[in-house]
Amino acid sequence: MEITAKQGELQKQKTPCLVLGLFEGKALPAALRPLDQLLDGLLSRLLRDKEFSGRHRETLIIPTGQHLPAERLLLLGLGKDKGAGLERLRQATGSLISVLGARGLTSFASDLPLLPLKGTTLTERCQAMTEALLLAAYRFDRFRTVGREEFPPLLSAARLLVSNASERRSAEQGIGEGQAIAAGVCLARNLVNEPGNVKSPEFLAEQARRLADEQGLSCTVLERPALEAEGLGALLGVAQGSVREARLIILEYKGGNSDARPIALIGKGVVFDAGGISLKPAEKMEEMKMDMAGGAAVLGAFCAAARLKLPVNLVGIIPAVENLPSGSAIRPGDILTSLSGKTIEVINTDAEGRLILADALTYAKRYNPRVVIDLATLTGACIIALGHQASAVLGNHEGLIRQLLRAGERSGERLWQLPLWDEYAGQIKSDIADVKNTGGRPAGTITAAAFLQKFAGDYTWAHLDIAGTAWEDKGQPCIPKGGTGVGVRLLVQYLRQGAAPQR
Ligand code: BES
Ligand code: MN
Ligand code: ZN
Repeated sequence: MEITAKQGELQKQKTPCLVLGLFEGKALPAALRPLDQLLDGLLSRLLRDKEFSGRHRETLIIPTGQHLPAERLLLLGLGKDKGAGLERLRQATGSLISVLGARGLTSFASDLPLLPLKGTTLTERCQAMTEALLLAAYRFDRFRTVGREEFPPLLSAARLLVSNASERRSAEQGIGEGQAIAAGVCLARNLVNEPGNVKSPEFLAEQARRLADEQGLSCTVLERPALEAEGLGALLGVAQGSVREARLIILEYKGGNSDARPIALIGKGVVFDAGGISLKPAEKMEEMKMDMAGGAAVLGAFCAAARLKLPVNLVGIIPAVENLPSGSAIRPGDILTSLSGKTIEVINTDAEGRLILADALTYAKRYNPRVVIDLATLTGACIIALGHQASAVLGNHEGLIRQLLRAGERSGERLWQLPLWDEYAGQIKSDIADVKNTGGRPAGTITAAAFLQKFAGDYTWAHLDIAGTAWEDKGQPCIPKGGTGVGVRLLVQYLRQGAAPQR
C-alpha cells in the first residue's frame, strides 16, 4: 500500500473516493464550504436533515456526478469531538479498509489528518492513520490455495491531504513512523499466526537471524549443549517433553551511546503449549500456538526500533520451547534447578511460561540492563481479571510502570496495573524447594508475577501479561482475527517517549 502526503485543495482532488471526516453534532466545518458550494449545498443539507450524523464509524457514500473531479465522497463519522483522540482516529481510519474493500475501491484521498484532535500533532495523526490502514489491511493468507478471489481487493493507495509544505513534511514523517511500526506489528502477527507444525523453537531462531541480517542487529542463539553448560535448568526442563529442542534467542540493537546501559526486552516463546503432563483440555487448544506472542512482540519491537533508528541500546531475549507431554516430559512434583541456582518445585507443568522466563530474567543480568520488561501470555487468570481490553502490568518500580501505562494510553495498547504486594509471595512457598511454580486459584496473574519477581533480582523490572490481548477472535477495525501483534506499538511508544533512565 502506498501512503503519501499531498498538499492540495479538497475540491481539486481527482480520486475514486474523497474521504471526509466529520464530528458528531457539528455544523459543516469551514474547510468544507468550497466543496459544499460546488455540490449546491448538498453537504450542509445532509447534516441539517440528519441523513448523516457523524456517529463514530458511520459512513455515507455520495456519487458526485459532474460536480467534482473526485468520483464520490465518503463521509466518515468520528463521534463527538469531546474526548476524541488518536485511538478514535485509528478506529475510524481502520474501518475504511472494509468499506472501500466492499466496493472494490482501491485508492482514496482524505482530509482526516487535518481534523483537530486535542493534544495531538499532525505527525502523530498521520502516524496513527498509517498504522490503522496497514494494520486493518493485514491478512494471513499464505495457506489459502482456493477461494482467494473471494477476498475483497486491498487498498493500493492512500493520499493524506495537508495544506502547506511544512505540513507535508510533518505528515511524511508521521507516515514513515507509522510504516516502521506497522511492519513490526505485522511481523509479530505473522509469527503468532504461523501454525505449530511450522514454528519450532529453531524456526523462531531462524526468523530472529533473518531480522538481524535485514536490520543490522546482532543475533546469538544458544542450543542445548550451551544451555546445559550454562545451567538453564528451568528452560531445559520445559523443553524435555518435546523432540524439538529449546533455543535461547538473543538480539542486540545498538542505537544509543556505546556505554549506555541497555533496556532488556524478554518475550515468552512457547511455540505450542499443550500443558505438558498437566495436559490442557482439547477445547481451544489450537489457540495455544499463540503462546509465543511475547517473543513475537520482542522481534516486532526490534524490527520497528531499528527502522526508526531509535537512540537506545536494546537487548532482546526469547526463551523458545514447546510444552508437550511425552515419556521424557517433566512431571508434577519434579524439582528443577534454575540458572539463578534457585530450585523450583513444579506443581503444574502447564505453568511453564514462568519457568522459562525465570532463566531468561537471570540471563538478562549479564547485560547489566537499566530496565527489564518481559511480555508473556502467562495466565488464563489475566483474561478473567481484565478480559481482552487490556494487558496487565506489574513490577517492582512504580516509575517504570507509570511510563508504561502512559505509553499504553498513547499507543492504544492499554495496560492496567495489578498489585504485587509481598504477601502474595506466600502463595508460592514450597515445602521442599526454594519456590513452587503455582500459587493456587486466587490472584493467578499476581502470583505468576510474584514468581518472576524472585528472578528479576533488584533491577528495574516490569512484567506485561498479554494473555487476553495477544489473540483476537472476533475481529476489530484495526485488528483482524488471529494474532494481534500486541506489545509492539506499546514498546515502541515507551522507547520513543524517552525511556528516561530510572532511578
Ligand atoms: N499459556 C498459558 C496461559 C494462557 C491461557 C494464555 C489462555 C492465553 C490464553 C499458560 O502457560 C498457562 O497454561 N497458565 C496456567 C497457569 C496455571 C497452571 C497456574 C493457567 O493460566 O491456567
Ligand atoms: Mn501453560
Ligand atoms: Zn503457556
